[in-house]
Amino acid sequence: MLELKNVDARIGIIPILRGINLTIEAGETVALIGRNGAGKTTLLRSIMGFTTVTGSMSFAGTEMTSLIPARRPGLGIGYAPEDRRLFSPFTVEENILLPAQVARLDAAETKRRIDRVYDILPELREMAGRPAGNVSGGQGKMVALGRALMLGTKLVMLDEPFQGLAPALALRYADALKALRDADRTVALVITESNPSLLRGFAGRTLVIERGEVSEGVLEHERT
Ligand SMILES: Nc1ncnc2c1ncn2[C@@H]1O[C@H](COP(=O)(O)OP(=O)(O)OP(=O)(O)O)[C@@H](O)[C@H]1O
Ligand SMILES: [Mg+2]
Repeated sequence: MLELKNVDARIGIIPILRGINLTIEAGETVALIGRNGAGKTTLLRSIMGFTTVTGSMSFAGTEMTSLIPARRPGLGIGYAPEDRRLFSPFTVEENILLPAQVARLDAAETKRRIDRVYDILPELREMAGRPAGNVSGGQGKMVALGRALMLGTKLVMLDEPFQGLAPALALRYADALKALRDADRTVALVITESNPSLLRGFAGRTLVIERGEVSEGVLEHERT
């Protein structure tokens, strides 16, 4: 479904990603593991169109490299950046609805999707009317997940969602991901992490990123 072929990415003039080849199929759960600075965020941002890229990137049959960033979520891609980016004067629900407005979904479709988000993440329904600036960091991660689910009908990409979560909230977040998995077996999930143990047993496949290069499988220090 998502296919990157020989992708290089630059930020300004600085080359960050090199020779990325990867395929992610519908319904897969993929852990993207790499140390700080390895290029995890840059890879997700490149898929969303925020870097200068050479090579080819296609999604569900559409060549994406020529598609401006604003058009990419409309393909069915949801993205939760590592720094959440909630709009604090707006309510939790307004934050979740924002991508639907940007993508110009009609009222019926928007309602259908937000109901699905609330089914998967019931605590968001309870927080719906609160200003996003008043929720805790951990709750904010849930809001960012809910927002990503609004447009992520085919692919949801979460950048270090467990980073900074207290243990109880991390467990709750992992449960929410399982609920998403159970509710929808066709959506693909890409989750980045610097600590591989957090996603062990949950991800079906692990991709390792080191110094801007992606490989299938095993971390250097885990090889025996
Ligand atoms: N705006 C920028 N300008 C220049 N270099 C950048 C920029 N953003 C990231 N880099 C560099 O790109 C490389 C990859 O960074 P990236 O943020 O993608 O890594 P990461 O794996 O997400 O790290 P972390 O675990 O800290 O989030 C790093 O060497 C970083 O210094
Ligand atoms: Mg990062």
